[in-house]
Amino acid sequence: MRFCFIVEEQYRNDPMPLVVADQLLQWGHDVDVLETQAAVTCLSDLTTQGYDAFVLKSLADGPGMSILAAAEAVGIPTINNSRAIRLVRDKAVAAAFGRAHGLPIPPTYFVAHPRLLKQIPAEDYPLVIKPSNGSSCKGIYRLNSPADLAALEIAEADDSFFLAQRYAENTGFDIKVYVTGKEVYAAIAKKSPLHSDVDEKFIPLTPELRKLTLHVGKLFGLDIYGIDVVETPHGLAILDINDFPSFGRVPRAVVRIAEYVLHAAKHAERKRLARMERNRRHSSTGKRNLFLVDSMKS
Ligand SMILES: Nc1ncnc2c1ncn2[C@@H]1O[C@H](COP(=O)(O)OP(=O)(O)O)[C@@H](O)[C@H]1O
Ligand SMILES: [Mg+2]
Repeated sequence: MRFCFIVEEQYRNDPMPLVVADQLLQWGHDVDVLETQAAVTCLSDLTTQGYDAFVLKSLADGPGMSILAAAEAVGIPTINNSRAIRLVRDKAVAAAFGRAHGLPIPPTYFVAHPRLLKQIPAEDYPLVIKPSNGSSCKGIYRLNSPADLAALEIAEADDSFFLAQRYAENTGFDIKVYVTGKEVYAAIAKKSPLHSDVDEKFIPLTPELRKLTLHVGKLFGLDIYGIDVVETPHGLAILDINDFPSFGRVPRAVVRIAEYVLHAAKHAERKRLARMERNRRHSSTGKRNLFLVDSMKS
């Protein structure tokens, strides 16, 4: 099969997603790497380039999304798809969409500028302030009460909007869960920027955690994703959803992701062939009917 990996500049020197492209090459597939900052992309002949799928590990506000969405618009399968990426990339959209579908996400406000934080009622505290397009735990602040607003200094360089989210009381560490398709691989305990160090370790993937994780994937239409969860006194709370995370310590992650990409592309191809066959049958029956009508007339 033939794949196009869209690689954002920031990931050029990272293992992901290039290690997956390498794996597919080793298995004998064709892979082109499209570096968004290094080459122009010809949009006029996307359909004739013969790609079975485009793959993107998205970057907040990166150019890769335009190319991915263009490929999708002309009928080429994409992993992840652009709608799913848009739903999770903007944390404001993810929180609204997730809450509307009953996901256990803490109550959340959208805040266009930090000066507006004073409008949030005292009873909503403690709050976590985070950039709505953030990643890698950058720019995370906890405010215990409105009195903390005076001391809050958000770096001016943060050219972003913010979420103010109710702090979810938790066990002091994050649980990261990783998925390709319907396979949930690992739950890993990781340090939270709001808590002290923990030993990173695998923790049991409970049926509840697995069910919640798969539900998120289905709801958002994600193929390759991860979620950040914490355990609260009232059950699990979802704090973050990521398309195509780095799968840090997940065993055999590269092979598993590559297998999934192949599987997804083959599945899309089977669907396309079935659709073409249906259309062919449809049009030949149509023609037969026309012929009948014509012969009845004469
Ligand atoms: N509402 C919250 N309650 C408790 N901790 C939070 C909350 N929101 C974020 N955090 C902590 O901050 C970390 C980073 O926030 P997250 O939403 O995952 O953004 P990022 O995209 O930077 O990973 C989380 O993994 C968690 O440790
Ligand atoms: Mg996170």
